Amino acid sequence: MPTNPAEIAEPAPYAVPNYLEEHYWWAYVHPNAVRVFERQWLVNSILWGNFRRLRDAALDVLGRPIQGRTLQVACVYGDLTERLLARHAPDAQLDVVDILPVQLDNLARKLGPEPGLAMRQADSADLGIADGHYDQVLVFFLLHEQPLATRRRTIAEALRVTRPGGRLVFVDYHRPHPANPMRLVMHPVLRMLEPFALDLWREEITAWLPPWAPPVRVEKRTFFGGLYQLVVITREPQEADVGSGA
Ligand SMILES: C[S@@+](CC[C@H](N)C(=O)[O-])C[C@H]1O[C@@H](n2cnc3c(N)ncnc32)[C@H](O)[C@@H]1O
Repeated sequence: MPTNPAEIAEPAPYAVPNYLEEHYWWAYVHPNAVRVFERQWLVNSILWGNFRRLRDAALDVLGRPIQGRTLQVACVYGDLTERLLARHAPDAQLDVVDILPVQLDNLARKLGPEPGLAMRQADSADLGIADGHYDQVLVFFLLHEQPLATRRRTIAEALRVTRPGGRLVFVDYHRPHPANPMRLVMHPVLRMLEPFALDLWREEITAWLPPWAPPVRVEKRTFFGGLYQLVVITREPQEADVGSGA
């Protein structure tokens, strides 16, 4: 379960996944990656100026204030976690997991100890957290980095740890509208740098829900001519919860 930030410097029990080692070593794994990429303007430029808009759209779904227990699956360069915490109700809890200690260390450095914040090393594909533990789960620009089998497991895990009635929020790439000229720019860029990202141009995120998925409600919004998407998957409350205010 979540530990406090001082404990995250322990030796890693997790191997770096192949796809990170092979395709994203320069962005996340290399010791210089944090020094290079931890710049708000750079993150915003990589998203063609859309970082704040996408961040705030996700935060608006989570609430104002954000109540209960929230899980952020994977760290992100920039101020997403900081803004999330700033919206927290006084008794709310935010847990952040990432598979790379270097990224957790960076987040701990950015934020310092904060009440209601815990960070721990975990694999999004095998969270090791109890079913239904969270009121909401946020997965921000992680799915496009993962090969299909891992992506499916990440989605299944995120859904499993979201309580009935809770919300699962994905922000990621999406197929641009046919008339969007960004198609011509982003297709070769993604094909070269992010080999799994174009899967999100071909399929809906819901195509990768697990076969055991409980009843859910799905809302999708797209941004920047369709290049980005926000998908909110709400688990239907269990019958026993209906009418109980849960
Ligand atoms: C959230 S994604 C990309 C976010 C976005 N491109 C950015 O940084 O602005 C990057 C993070 O995902 C983490 N990550 C990748 N695979 C993971 C996994 N299987 N489990 C947990 N974290 C993972 C990486 O370690 C990295 O910190």
